[in-house]
Amino acid sequence: MTSETKAARPRLIVTRKLPKQVEDYLAGRFDAVFNEKDEAFTPKQLKDALSDADALLPTAVDGLSKDMMEGQDLRCKIIANFGVGYNNIDVDAASGAGIAVTNTPGVLTDCTADIAVALLLMSARRTTQSEKILRAAQWEGFSPTFNLGAKVTGKTLGIIGMGRIGKAMAKRCHFGFDMPVVFYNRSKMDPDEAKKFGATQLDSVEDVLKTADFVSLHCPGGGSNRHLINAQRLSMMKPSAHLINTARGEVVDETALIAALQTGTIAGAGLDVFEEEPSVPKALTQLETVSLLPHIGSGTLETRTEMGMMAANNLVAFFEGKKPDNQVN
Ligand code: DGY
Repeated sequence: MTSETKAARPRLIVTRKLPKQVEDYLAGRFDAVFNEKDEAFTPKQLKDALSDADALLPTAVDGLSKDMMEGQDLRCKIIANFGVGYNNIDVDAASGAGIAVTNTPGVLTDCTADIAVALLLMSARRTTQSEKILRAAQWEGFSPTFNLGAKVTGKTLGIIGMGRIGKAMAKRCHFGFDMPVVFYNRSKMDPDEAKKFGATQLDSVEDVLKTADFVSLHCPGGGSNRHLINAQRLSMMKPSAHLINTARGEVVDETALIAALQTGTIAGAGLDVFEEEPSVPKALTQLETVSLLPHIGSGTLETRTEMGMMAANNLVAFFEGKKPDNQVN
């Protein structure tokens, strides 16, 4: 490669450390700047990156707001988001600034549904609390009444948002745990299709909340989904019910959830996402009825590599003058 060709390569800023295979691939095609230390970018660093590079590869929690893009003379022409959710980006502002936005759908479906199942089981069976007791050397041996949880098999699963991940969750719970599934989805699903995984579509979020023993959120964040699960809706759930969130923290009003758990309005929760990541309210960490994971839904080497390769291929297509497969604007 001559230095002339190298200089012609698009300059790319990658906001977090990516799996090696992905970084190697990007390094071979772009004048790429990587984040060796893997420290999260500040809003100022993100804003500067939009002016300093032809392309940005952020993660789904790097906020790219309207004020960073509107009325600015930006060098950036494409934001290739590492994540299926892209509510971190003001897509209208990006479109207004002539910036293409892409995401990484499909490749993280199974792993995210797996973590939703894990959280459902952890919450139902009180595994976080039991492990805490064991690790603290406070376990006094088998007891028929020690830290009893709720049986999962045969209970009703409620799903909010029946996209790819919602369907994968329904399949796992219906075929794995004989669970009847009810769901809410904005668009109507063919009932025969839904029956394939034991699911029945209900008319409203409220109907699902009132019916289900476990409610799992799989809708996108942003817009009207912010605080979709609020105090009023939490009060419609059964006192024995558990809420599972692997979607976006902002879908749940965290303050209302804490109150609902403290007062026993619902029995438990399993959360992989939070409103102000990486900060998690102390009150939440102190509750015995909640299981918490640090946004690891898609966190397997295989999936994070596939996500990175998909983002990389969106970039490659764009700079070859093609429309990337996963362009959302
Ligand atoms: C996504 O893709 O939206 C995930 O939450 C990021 O891992």
